[in-house]
Amino acid sequence: MYVCICRNVTETQVREAVVRHGACNLRTLRKRVDTCSQCGKCALEVKTLIQETLAENAVLEQQDMAA
Ligand code: FES
Repeated sequence: MYVCICRNVTETQVREAVVRHGACNLRTLRKRVDTCSQCGKCALEVKTLIQETLAENAVLEQQDMAA
């Protein structure tokens, strides 16, 4: 699903940038993915997606450590 229509950026691209490249905020994400750089209407959704992905990753890491 697209999160940034202007730049054709998908949710998957954002999640990959967070998980694989450590993009933990909008500024670092934009070094990997060209998003939020035109109308900016996607910014809130992209920020939320970054936070959700970071939280999910933290839970997975805790589960790995507990196993
Ligand atoms: S929807 Fe992302 S910049 Fe317009």
